[in-house]
Amino acid sequence: MSSNTNIQSVLTENRAFAPSAEFVGQAQLNADKLAALHAAAQADHLGFWADLARKEVAWQTPFTTVLDDAEAPNFKWFVDGRTNASVNCLDRHLGARGDQVAIRYEGEQGDTRTYTYKQLHAEVCKTANALKSLGVAKGDRVAIYMPMTADAAIAMLACARIGAIHTVIFGGFSASSIKDRVEDTQAKLLITSDGGRRGGHIVELKRTADDALAQGCATIEKVLMFRRTGHDVPFNPARDVWANALIEQQSTECEPEWVESEHPLFLLYTSGSTGKPKGIQHSTGGYMVGATATSKWVFDLRQGDVFWCTADVGWVTGHSYVVYGPLSAGSTVMMYEGTPMVPDAGRFWKICQDHGVTIFYTAPTAIRALMKAGDQWPGQYDLSKLRLLGSVGEPINPEAWMWYHRVVGKEKLPIVDTWWQTETGTIMISPIPGAIATKPGSCTKPLPGIAVDIVDEGGNRIEGNDQGGYLVVTKPWPSMLRGIWGNPERFVSTYWGQFKDAPAGYATPTGKWTYLAGDGAHRDTDGYYWIMGRTDDVLNVSGHRLGTMEIESALVSHPRVAEAAVVGRPHEVKGESVFAFVICNGERPTGADAEAFTKELREHVAREIGALAKPDDIRFADNLPKTRSGKIMRRLLRSIAKGEVITQDTSTLENPGIVDQLAGKA
Ligand code: WTA
Repeated sequence: MSSNTNIQSVLTENRAFAPSAEFVGQAQLNADKLAALHAAAQADHLGFWADLARKEVAWQTPFTTVLDDAEAPNFKWFVDGRTNASVNCLDRHLGARGDQVAIRYEGEQGDTRTYTYKQLHAEVCKTANALKSLGVAKGDRVAIYMPMTADAAIAMLACARIGAIHTVIFGGFSASSIKDRVEDTQAKLLITSDGGRRGGHIVELKRTADDALAQGCATIEKVLMFRRTGHDVPFNPARDVWANALIEQQSTECEPEWVESEHPLFLLYTSGSTGKPKGIQHSTGGYMVGATATSKWVFDLRQGDVFWCTADVGWVTGHSYVVYGPLSAGSTVMMYEGTPMVPDAGRFWKICQDHGVTIFYTAPTAIRALMKAGDQWPGQYDLSKLRLLGSVGEPINPEAWMWYHRVVGKEKLPIVDTWWQTETGTIMISPIPGAIATKPGSCTKPLPGIAVDIVDEGGNRIEGNDQGGYLVVTKPWPSMLRGIWGNPERFVSTYWGQFKDAPAGYATPTGKWTYLAGDGAHRDTDGYYWIMGRTDDVLNVSGHRLGTMEIESALVSHPRVAEAAVVGRPHEVKGESVFAFVICNGERPTGADAEAFTKELREHVAREIGALAKPDDIRFADNLPKTRSGKIMRRLLRSIAKGEVITQDTSTLENPGIVDQLAGKA
């Protein structure tokens, strides 16, 4: 198997940190309670989830069927139940905690706003009524291209309230990425904003949305635009509607649309090895069960917590742990619009201090950037309210983990390193903070009711602890993806095809099914899992998933580019960076031409996908290293990108002489 991460570094890590007696004493789950949950799930997988579903989600119509596996791997959970995600996040809290703050918001420029559960409920109802007035109904798709403001969360919940299916598009994506997503979902409405603020600049959301609409997006009937920056943006009266004015006129009551448990709550696009990003489809009932339960288990949420997950709502982490999970659990959610470095590297810590953040959940890339900025930044702020830290999105290197532990956690706060994916919907492998000793770089053990394993090429369980393999999930779980929008075959082949009918699979009328996560992993002698990185052609750049093929397609769409191969290169802060080998039509660019064309290509990729996909390195060559059968030797390219001495056998190459040139030596 190919893996991007160095297995040696994880195998030698054996420091362990038990939670403090103080934390354990107050935790909702201690080791005994966790053991009881695991035992219950092991004894009766479906019974365990059924009980939890009844406890954690408010159902308008109770379900009687827990799992329908007749059409596996299209598993269906709690099928005959009806619920509504926004009711779970809002209405059910109005009695006990209507006046508790649901969302605390801070803009990059320091402006703040809070919404109590009552206020958030009213805003969501008004917005839902506004959507209805624009003709949006149950099952319609709504694209959301918003800054990281409370309005983004409100727009998502408003869609959920009326059974519309949202697809949030990260604000850093380009016009052509918007167009792809809108066209794939056939969205009817686009919700956006005049702009947002990030990194000290205005992000031109409306202008980018307009570009996307100029390129296509024929199904979009209206554009609902929130006022955020107040700067001048084009307004097309035939199509554009000012959100704030329309929402103000609406009633604060909106009867929820009670949807079937399997009704799609959202689609979220993510990258795979091949083709364009796929629209991962999530359900309502099962997803809400997973989001609510994991929020409580992993983050130990309780009355008085201020929970800050720094992810943007454009990613799955923002769906499950900014919006649906913590609100369903009745917590207070912190939302911040901007980046960690504005105005300086103290911003995150200042927010923690000013808003009394108790639980802080971020990505290793942010931790590494803040570590690099120096210990003096967290040192300047009062972080005494913090009681739990989390990490998500990519493997966290032990050095960053130790810094987080020592400097932010003052050597006493537990760290939950949570492994999961857009596809899994919610956290799968993570410490339970009051119950499990942590090890720097390990996401520890699967959560109750989550059956993960490691298998070899043939799908056989790897019993020993000395070798890595493919990370798989061997039993269905409620928050699992329900498909790839519009592409049922790709769903089966991508996730379920490789180990079909393997011994460890879940037996159903259609055969045995094993979910392939796409990550390599290793299990140590304590049964802890260590994620080694993707086993497919997916990069993880600053915690963002990018397909190498997507970037290659973007590069070759430039008229001057004949061929391109993209690999990841280890990067101190980003985890991985994009390294592109490019073959041009005609002469290979050199000197000033190469420099200028590198710049142009980087901009071209930003236009095609978004700035997050820009290659850090571009190397021009006359040819790519190919075997005689025409296969690009990516492994060799990865070594070259890392600057390693080439030890691989290059004699099978069609063109062995090209290696020096690719390595920048000729
Ligand atoms: C990686 C983000 C190591 C992994 C929630 C996975 C991780 C991909 C971790 C999913 C972690 C996520 N340790 N690797 N704690 N969390 N990953 O869909 O490669 O954006 O497959 O979901 O991120 O990325 P996605």
